[in-house]
Amino acid sequence: LKSKVTSSSSSITTSSPSQKKITIYVEGVFDIIHSGHFNAIRQAKKLGDILCVGVNSDADVARAKGPTLMPCNERTELAKACKWADSVVPDTPYTPSVKLLDDLKVDFCAHGDDIPYNENGECVYDEIMKANRMKWFKRTEGVSTTEIIGRLLMCICDDKEKMNSTALTKEEKENLKQLEEFSKNRKPVMSSFLATSWRISEFSNAKVPKEGDKIIYIDGDFDILHIGHIQALKAAKSLGNFVYVGVHDDDTVRKHKGKNFPILNLNERVFNLLALKYVDEVIIGAPYKITEDMVKSLKIDVVVEGIKKGGISIYDDAYEIPKKMGIYKSIELEYDLSNQMLIDRIYNNRDIYIKKFLNKAKKDQEYL
Ligand code: CTP
Repeated sequence: LKSKVTSSSSSITTSSPSQKKITIYVEGVFDIIHSGHFNAIRQAKKLGDILCVGVNSDADVARAKGPTLMPCNERTELAKACKWADSVVPDTPYTPSVKLLDDLKVDFCAHGDDIPYNENGECVYDEIMKANRMKWFKRTEGVSTTEIIGRLLMCICDDKEKMNSTALTKEEKENLKQLEEFSKNRKPVMSSFLATSWRISEFSNAKVPKEGDKIIYIDGDFDILHIGHIQALKAAKSLGNFVYVGVHDDDTVRKHKGKNFPILNLNERVFNLLALKYVDEVIIGAPYKITEDMVKSLKIDVVVEGIKKGGISIYDDAYEIPKKMGIYKSIELEYDLSNQMLIDRIYNNRDIYIKKFLNKAKKDQEYL
């Protein structure tokens, strides 16, 4: 594992023994990384000086909780983009040991106060707790992967073509109906995650561009973060010193993507972006069509649009002004991922996800 540790920040410094820095290890599945995960990473960082993030292996997670929606390489890339992670280790065990902490040269392991159990029904931190090397932080209520998967499953329930497909057995249709019933009050975009101004300040970089900075603007829905988003944001950051990210409000997304979108509401999408190291500032509810006023008042030098490899811009109207002003730049993205592809991944494994959703939703209710 040691050889797999990838530094995601240059902030690690070696210190003399007299000022020993405390290293924390926070680990998890981080499947469909969300604001609860980012808040966990943020809180874990505060428990020490240096933070190492472990991303559980696909095989271990499959044994303990079932398959992940995103494979480990995708989950790792997303964790690496988090600004509070100093290093990231992929393929970590679901049940970490004291030896693992020693191998990784970390002092303590940290986790939210929802105790995870492995496939044998044992608390995964028993050994580490006995060695007095466990720290806990508060789990963020109102957001979970299961809940997000529930919203994605709703898209399948609403997709007439999929629901009427002959590929669905009678039992599968029954399961989906049961899910729809269960989720009647959990329509997409409803969330009990509380976006307080304190939380925003904790996530925020609290900075403005400096004189002479090259200012980049990139906008979009940024609904459910995936490696395509990370690639676009990373490319945007490489073009300048200060990146503004414009996030479209829920109505704008709905208008362009359909009634089940966005999967994550505006607040949730803003928190995700603020947790990323390629993002300096976020415009909450940015206009779909970029105006000259906006370009001038934010002193934007380049407006970036990420487009699919070999594809063309499909939002021509949105970028009309920056194109006319000669500040538009498109970047070709290697990864062609979309929320629809995530929905398709769920659809292909629908039985597992429905059962998992109904089980976990019950557990989440018990935790609450
Ligand atoms: N976590 C949190 N708040 C949440 C969700 C997760 O603080 N709403 C924390 C967990 O306690 C853990 C870390 O994030 O320390 C990684 O969690 P993970 O293993 O990915 O899974 P779950 O705890 O099962 O989270 P989810 O239900 O969202 O998958």
